[in-house]
Formats: sequence, C-alpha cells, structure tokens
Amino acid sequence: MNAAIKSAKRVHAEVTVPGDKSISHRSVMLGSIAKGDTHVSGFLTGEDCLSTISCFKKLGVDIELDGTNVTVHGKGLHGLSAPSEPLDVGNSGTTLRLMSGLLAAQPFTTHITGDKSIQKRPMGRVAMPLGLMGGKITSDGEKLTAPLTIEGAELKAVDYTLPVASAQVKSAIILAGLYADGVTRITEPEATRDHTEIMLNYLGANIKKEGNTIVVTPVEELTARDISVPGDISSAAYFIAAALICADSEVIVKNVGINPTRTGIITAFRAMGADIELLNERTVCGEAVADIKTKSCRLHGTVIKGDIIPKLIDEIPVISAAACYADGETVIADAQELKVKESDRIKTMASELRKMGADITETDDGMIIRGGRPLKGTVCESYDDHRVAMSVAVAALGAEGETVINNSECVDISFPGFFSMLDNMREE
Ligand code: S3P
Repeated sequence: MNAAIKSAKRVHAEVTVPGDKSISHRSVMLGSIAKGDTHVSGFLTGEDCLSTISCFKKLGVDIELDGTNVTVHGKGLHGLSAPSEPLDVGNSGTTLRLMSGLLAAQPFTTHITGDKSIQKRPMGRVAMPLGLMGGKITSDGEKLTAPLTIEGAELKAVDYTLPVASAQVKSAIILAGLYADGVTRITEPEATRDHTEIMLNYLGANIKKEGNTIVVTPVEELTARDISVPGDISSAAYFIAAALICADSEVIVKNVGINPTRTGIITAFRAMGADIELLNERTVCGEAVADIKTKSCRLHGTVIKGDIIPKLIDEIPVISAAACYADGETVIADAQELKVKESDRIKTMASELRKMGADITETDDGMIIRGGRPLKGTVCESYDDHRVAMSVAVAALGAEGETVINNSECVDISFPGFFSMLDNMREE
C-alpha cells in the first residue's frame, strides 16, 4: 500500500489514540501468568500485540479478543505448557525480549523467531544476563539474533548492571527474576519505562526501586485484576507534532498514558517553545493518564541528549520531523539505540526528510537538523518501519504539494487507522 499525504493548512481535532503498545503487551504476558481471569480494555489491536496473543495461545493460554477488549484466562506462574510449534513474534522486539525472560524459567524448550527485521536485531543483550541466571538461550541466526532456542532452567538470582538503557532487557530480567532462587537486582544507567514494574505490583508482586536499582523478590502467585490500557503517548506524538507543524492548529488527544518515563516528548517540545497542556490528570491501574492539548506555535531548535533519551526514544523520528520546521538547529545525541530499532532510524529518517528538502547531518549517536528550510512533497520509503512511515506523514503536512509513502501498511504494527485519523483532522 502507498499513502498519499497532502499538505494541511491547519489541523484541528479532539481524538483518542489506540492503546499503549508496551502496556498492551504486558497485559497479555502478565495476565497469562496470573491466577484467574484478566479483563483488559483499550487493548492495542496492532500487529505487534496480536503477535503476543498468538504466542501465549501456543503456550496453552486461552485468550479471547473482542474489539479492544481482551480476556486472558491466566494459568498462574507455573501453568504455561510446551508449545508444539515455534513461536512467531512477527515484527515485535518487545514480545521476543520479554518472553525470553519468561521462557528461560519454564520447564520446557521453546523455539522462537520473527520477521526479517527481528532477525537482525540484537538478542545477545537478553541472552547474556539470562545466561548469568542459568538460562540457556542459543541462537540459530548470526551474531545472537533470532531464531532463538530457549531451554528452560532453574534460575539463580543475580545482581546485574545493564550496559544499555533498555526497558525490554530490564523487563526480561524482571520476569526471569520472578522465578529465581532469591532476590534479583537490576541497575539501569538511565531510567527506562517502568510498565512491567507497575503492572506486576498491581497484580500483587513485590518489585521495589532503590535509586537506579530495581529489586525483584520472587512471589508465590500473581492475582488477576482488570486492566484498562491508556492511549499510547507514542501514537499521540504524531498529532502533537502535527499541531506544532501546522499554523493555527489545536489538537486534544484524550486519555493518554503520561507515565514520567514516557513523557520526554513533552519536555523536549516544551524546550522548543511548544504550548502543551496536560488536562484531567489521573491514575488508572497504577499508570498516570491525562488529556494532552497542543496549540500550534513557532518552534525553535534545542539540544536533546542524556537521560531524557530513553523517555522519548520512540518519538525521535517524529521530533526530527518537527525540528525541520523549527527555527535554528536541533541536536539529538546519545541516541545510538536508534540504529537497532525496526530500522536504523538515524539513517532512515535523515534520508527521507532530506528527500523532502531538509538540512540534516547524521552523527554516530543522533543527528543535527537545521530547521527552517521549506519542505516539498516527494516519494518516500517507510523501510517497513511504522514510526518512520508516520513521522514522514506528519512532516508531509507542512510540505508543499503531496508526499507519497511507499509500503505504508506497516503503520498497522502500532497504529491501525492512522492515515484516516490524520486525514480527518487535516484542513486545506
Ligand atoms: C519498549 C522498550 C523500548 C521501546 C520499544 C518498547 C518496551 O525498547 O523502543 O518500542 O515496551 O519495553 P528498548 O528496551 O530496546 O529500548
């Protein structure tokens, strides 16, 4: 599929976005190992989260999907059964990495793989710490990539410092730690999203934070409870950016997760001069939630680096699109993790925005965007990366003429219906 995006004079809307991807994955994973039925509402029916459902079904869990409601008939911590065929995570790194932690502790062997992009992404970062715990993860791919074979084992508790800030790796170790023979301690270089910790505690686990260290004490049982998934700030990000790119615009995105480990985009846009307000702040199932109101205004460049990076890692593509419309220079540094996402997002974003006329220098750990050059619609590639496709689409709103995005169907990974929602808020 190819999407064609015309420039917009302004955008105006009050919308809700699909459920948070990270929380949706975790609701099925933790619901599956909890005792009893978990009713999830607001579940993201994007392909990644559907892959998680399909993997847990193959592990013997009954799961029903009805629109955005999911019922997970939990099997308890020790109730998963050996799959009769390899698990397929599709494009989902979260599914593969988090499940590795869980599967390393099961009394059976699992083969697990995913699509072409997944087979290139680094899995040594989970295999290494899980190996220290006694887990046996071997790779049938090159350089510790999927397909993986995970042989379940009795796990030892460890004290592990993450070399790279990664919520997926942290979460894999936390899940393994639930089954370990003692207290596992995980230290992160910078705080990353803590949805696993919040949801586990909501289900009765005992996960504590001491400074930068997460302390995991094994529990006998997790108890199923209903989970309401807020809208994904990573999806809201496209409409926040759209309102900032187009003059005379206002967008309210209702019911969005604003967990402080995820709101780097708000901090960064505010540092660029954005007018963003949080309304109706509340807590739902342990997660902070609000409505986000963004009004257009002229942005200026800024420097985005250091410990804010994990808090906006998935939003850097759309921030780079908005930075093309800002006055002056925006520097993004310390973001080398972008190179190992669904695509090398430094390369792919710089390349596509440059095709539209942007002035961007790629660096080893980010990019420098000199804003203010007029962009022009052209033919762009998605690289089968959902966030690249959506970020280019948002950049296209401010560009002259029409932009075509090839292979745009990848948006279904995290945001089914994205293009029609964007089109509905466009005014010519
Ligand atoms: C995620 C963690 C991040 C993020 C990904 C989702 C999660 O990945 O980029 O989209 O749900 O834990 P890393 O842990 O690799 O940084």
